[in-house]
Amino acid sequence: MLVLGIESTAHTLGAGVCRNGEVLSNAHDIYKPKKEGIVPRKAADHHAEVFSEVLSSSLSSAGVSMEELDLVAFSQGPGIGAPLAVGCTAAKYLSLKYSKPLIGVNHPYAHVKIAEHLTGVSNPLVLYVSGGNTQILAEEKSGFRIFGETLDIGLGNLFDTFAREAGMAYAHGSALENLARGGSYIELPYTVKGTNLSFTGLQTAAARALKEHPARDVAYSMMETAFSMCCEALERALFLTRKKGIIACGGVAQNRRLQSMLRILAKEDGVEFGVAPDEYNRDNGAMIAYAGDLLYTKKGTKPPEAWSPAPNQRIDSA
Ligand code: FE2
Repeated sequence: MLVLGIESTAHTLGAGVCRNGEVLSNAHDIYKPKKEGIVPRKAADHHAEVFSEVLSSSLSSAGVSMEELDLVAFSQGPGIGAPLAVGCTAAKYLSLKYSKPLIGVNHPYAHVKIAEHLTGVSNPLVLYVSGGNTQILAEEKSGFRIFGETLDIGLGNLFDTFAREAGMAYAHGSALENLARGGSYIELPYTVKGTNLSFTGLQTAAARALKEHPARDVAYSMMETAFSMCCEALERALFLTRKKGIIACGGVAQNRRLQSMLRILAKEDGVEFGVAPDEYNRDNGAMIAYAGDLLYTKKGTKPPEAWSPAPNQRIDSA
């Protein structure tokens, strides 16, 4: 099965092609706001502007044409309404124009499935950490179940807000990771409630601490605190579920310090740990194509006109 996947939940417009689960291409273009966070209208304009270029690049590097495709998949949610609508509309248009079936894919489901596929860790406990989401989840017979999650903001959102408070030109996780290198620990609020997490107290305290401490120390301490909280909640869920493996996925899973903490946790608890290459933890079209194939094979689909974006969609109700 040859599948095109379109991703547009936030700042990335992605188009990827998979054939029978093998990634053939994964093209993208990112909207980079200057100082503010993501402005929905601007992200949507960006995606509409670069769409045809990203699509052509994906098809040509996969060496396929639209006519050869068996399925068009798009990222249905959760995400920001305006950019989501661009991806959905474009996918619908392609589906109708080329008479291809269309399927909507839950974005976290795609992150989890491509990570399972690429790491080889089967039936894992998952730490899904991205801009808007922070969840601990696992798949059961009836679908995905969330064992714990953030009660307020997502981990990536915490980092992006802090980076802007610290005056960084490009509020991105990798830039924050560089800033935190060699920092010293200062005490910040640590809030774990069973297997759930809360980051807003940490966010406020970190912003305040910037007035008294070097940005490097605050960045380091905030990341250490937030990652330790994730590890504690994840380990509690691990004992509860008795899973034999854990994976991390989503944008923040690219963070090397988080990866090393999870590797230690897994080793101490005698379970496997896996994380996919960075390309698949960022928002990308290939994972949507991969997951679209799985869903279509399992459940089939409905007519193109019946699909619409679902900005608040959760993995446990998708
Ligand atoms: Fe994502």
